[in-house]
Amino acid sequence: MATRILALNAQKGGVGKTTAAVNLASALDQAGKRVLLVDFDPQADATMTVGIKPHEEDGPTSFDYVLGQCRLSDAVRSTDFGRLEVLPVYDAAIDRLGVPKLAGPDSRRARARALADGFHSRFAAELARKYPDEPELTLARLVSGLGEGRKRGAVAVSDEWSQYDYAVVDLPPQQVLPVAMVLASADAVIIPTKVEAYAMRGFARMLDTISDVREVFNPSLRLVGVLATFAQMRTQTTTIYLEAMRDVTERLGTPLFETIIPYRVQAIAASGLGLPLHYYSETKTLAAMYDKLAVEVMRAFGDKPTSRPTTR
Ligand SMILES: Nc1ncnc2c1ncn2[C@@H]1O[C@H](COP(=O)(O)OP(=O)(O)OP(=O)(O)O)[C@@H](O)[C@H]1O
Ligand SMILES: [Mg+2]
Repeated sequence: MATRILALNAQKGGVGKTTAAVNLASALDQAGKRVLLVDFDPQADATMTVGIKPHEEDGPTSFDYVLGQCRLSDAVRSTDFGRLEVLPVYDAAIDRLGVPKLAGPDSRRARARALADGFHSRFAAELARKYPDEPELTLARLVSGLGEGRKRGAVAVSDEWSQYDYAVVDLPPQQVLPVAMVLASADAVIIPTKVEAYAMRGFARMLDTISDVREVFNPSLRLVGVLATFAQMRTQTTTIYLEAMRDVTERLGTPLFETIIPYRVQAIAASGLGLPLHYYSETKTLAAMYDKLAVEVMRAFGDKPTSRPTTR
């Protein structure tokens, strides 16, 4: 089976992108697939959620890989969770790109948030210096091993990537360069969307971005689905907003996953502990929702589980 690259993207922040990336990756691992979780967010939330402390580590990261400073295998790490591997982000890598340190409590998150813009513009400048023509295509070139990336629908995947069945990529919110870079490399996009008022704001712009990327860089990019998250089941507001989401997606002809991710306060504890939902006793039911999502994703690619989920 060819490697499938799935990008989790949304205009909005805090809609469950990282949670979906980590737990979809973990669910695919449980289904017997070889999975690489890829962190392309300088906040390093996905890295932390698989038990790695980004402020204690140094070494090559996803950003170093894209800048041509290392090979994929130099940066990839194994995790304590099945056969799941991660291409991580560490604070030191962000520092290397010239983002100054902030002191004080909660400094990691504050720094990551406040200086994300600074990081993105430095990364963009660095990438444009190295690859003056179409820096957006860098990752696509690395993935495909071809000079033109996936520009003409090339599906070849270089040896480094071909050992994985799926690469699941976590991205920062908003339209920043890493997003374009990953979309130019990806087979498919999943858009997590919080079930709330104004949920679909920015959605039309996301669809425009996807069709622009398709036109210019990657004609085979698919939108596999919109994923409804933070649903407070059995409340009237959720029912109303879910209905609105169904309406909009239907009108725009975009698929909405059957699986709906409910709001569960224990999810916050699991990510704080650096555990995928499958590995925390309080979140087994929520993990099962990501197993259902994984089945839908596999089905979209004509794929199915390789093995029964292992005991956790
Ligand atoms: N189903 C859920 N129920 C309750 N809380 C959740 C759920 N899923 C995720 N969370 C929590 O909500 C917060 C935001 O989720 P997450 O980090 O996945 O969003 P994000 O879209 O990646 O955010 P950002 O835009 O900052 O990258 C986190 O604290 C996470 O633990
Ligand atoms: Mg995130």
